Amino acid sequence: MREVNHIIPTHTVLEGGGFKVRRPASMGRLMSPFLLLDEMGPANYGPGEAVGAPWHPHRGFETVTYMLSGQMQHEDSEGNKGDLNPGDVQWMTAGRGIIHSEEPHSDFKKKGGLMHGFQIWINLPAKHKMMNPRYQEIPADQSPTTEKDGVWVRVIAGECLGLKSSIDTMVPIEFIHVKMKENSILEKEIDESLNAMIYVFGGVINLGNKVVKDGQLALLSDGEKLLINSQKKSEFLILAGPELNEPIARHGPFVMNTMAEIQQAFIDYQNGTFVN
Ligand code: CO
Repeated sequence: MREVNHIIPTHTVLEGGGFKVRRPASMGRLMSPFLLLDEMGPANYGPGEAVGAPWHPHRGFETVTYMLSGQMQHEDSEGNKGDLNPGDVQWMTAGRGIIHSEEPHSDFKKKGGLMHGFQIWINLPAKHKMMNPRYQEIPADQSPTTEKDGVWVRVIAGECLGLKSSIDTMVPIEFIHVKMKENSILEKEIDESLNAMIYVFGGVINLGNKVVKDGQLALLSDGEKLLINSQKKSEFLILAGPELNEPIARHGPFVMNTMAEIQQAFIDYQNGTFVN
């Protein structure tokens, strides 16, 4: 059985054009292959107030955006353009390089409203860092969800309650959104070879004899199985992936293995040879 090894608190920081995110501290070093977990909002914007992340590059990893509330629009150097609505997932593999913008949708910006979602960064193994960039977009109505005995799940990557995601990941990843009613139970298998963690963003859950509350990230021990009890109505993400065991050189939007590769990313970006 997987138990809680560490509990990491979140702090609030400003990202992009100045939107608030809740972010667990020092996660990148502790939780391979995940580099970052940002809970965007929840923020209630008045008309004209919503802000996003204007044009910026990425190289060497994947960004996964999952919307819970509000509406975003994205555009990138590959010519992709689209909207992200509640329940939609955008799985972007930056690979050797992409330049993109992630902004509130113009309609949403005009009217204002509640913005809430996640952006998660997943590292790529060295051999895939310079792969061609790619996008996988899964609209809410094509993303597998189910509800049983007070437990609702959306399987963004991996498997849960007999549902399987169709997303293609470069390393095995579990990414599950769970909502539990008070006093429900969730049992889930997680491959023993994977690191696993749980980020709670509503309510209180128990794992073994430990309690994990809203705004806490729990890093889990090794094991084959998870057993979660909800003390009250709760909501959280389960994330799992392999230990990459490779050096991490990280600077802003670039995550490579050596500083020389980071410098090369800056040179390519300045020379205009970063993208096709
Ligand atoms: Co970005």
